[in-house]
Amino acid sequence: MGIESSAHTLGVGIVHSGKVLANEKAMFRITDKGLIPSRVADFHSKNVGKVIRSALKSAGLKMSDIDAIGYTRGPGLGPCLRVGELVARSIHELLGIPLFAVNHAVAHIEITRTLSKVRDPLALYVSGGNSQIIGAIEDGFRHYHVYGETFDIGAGNMIDNFARAAKMKPAWGSTVAKVAEGGKYIQLPYTVKGMDFTFTGLLTHATKLLATNDLKDVAYSLQETAFAMLCEATERALLLTKKKDLLLCGGVAQSRRLQAMLKSMTRAHGIGFHVAPDQYNADNGAMIAIVAEEMLNSDVKQSSSDFGIDQRYRIDSVRLPWL
Ligand code: FE2
Repeated sequence: MGIESSAHTLGVGIVHSGKVLANEKAMFRITDKGLIPSRVADFHSKNVGKVIRSALKSAGLKMSDIDAIGYTRGPGLGPCLRVGELVARSIHELLGIPLFAVNHAVAHIEITRTLSKVRDPLALYVSGGNSQIIGAIEDGFRHYHVYGETFDIGAGNMIDNFARAAKMKPAWGSTVAKVAEGGKYIQLPYTVKGMDFTFTGLLTHATKLLATNDLKDVAYSLQETAFAMLCEATERALLLTKKKDLLLCGGVAQSRRLQAMLKSMTRAHGIGFHVAPDQYNADNGAMIAIVAEEMLNSDVKQSSSDFGIDQRYRIDSVRLPWL
């Protein structure tokens, strides 16, 4: 069983041999005030019992059937992470089953890697708070290396901020995508430095243009520019690493436009392209359960210093003995 609670989603997943048996969630509704960590943590504590029960029900299992428990150690919002940690630690102690502290970014990659059955892909991980190009390397130990990343905000937050500035409801990526349909391109700041990129210049410029331009054209241009930046940096990383597969994951991976752009770029190089169904790209408990199971099967031993929470838990420090 895996518990995800790093941001607005409280997810509980159950897996067996890499197969998802349950993936249930409750989502805190983001208001105009954005995400207030203590209020989201309250929401998670109120809902965690209910979501665990519905995961067990949809898997047709009892709590005593669970043989290991994983939770998100980070990165994420402290008070929210703490709820998942506390619940997982209690289950671990009450049932006497192994406990695993899981890195959220590793989990996003691992669920898509498992479902797509690819061994050693390059991953483009794009969510609200993160935008990173990641691949496994061996230097002393096997771990994920970040080849490129945003220097400021994640692509998801950039798009959500734009949606809020444009007073869209709900203020998130799928609304921007809908509004952008049939728009015309306006030149916007495009900032890629090697395999890194920045989004705030693009956001500021696009927000200013809202006063004098058609919303449809600005939304279209913002989306095209941001995704083209991600494509260029990813293409460079693919050519450098010579990886044969690209995997797209994270909340923004649900964007059909981003999927199409990456698909056409990878096709031109004869590289495989993989993306999971939407429910596994949004934050979810199954991805935490997948990694907990990989850790269990590869005999990872974690001690009390590995538990707790870490709001800035970097992906590079995680050992991957199963890869
Ligand atoms: Fe996430």
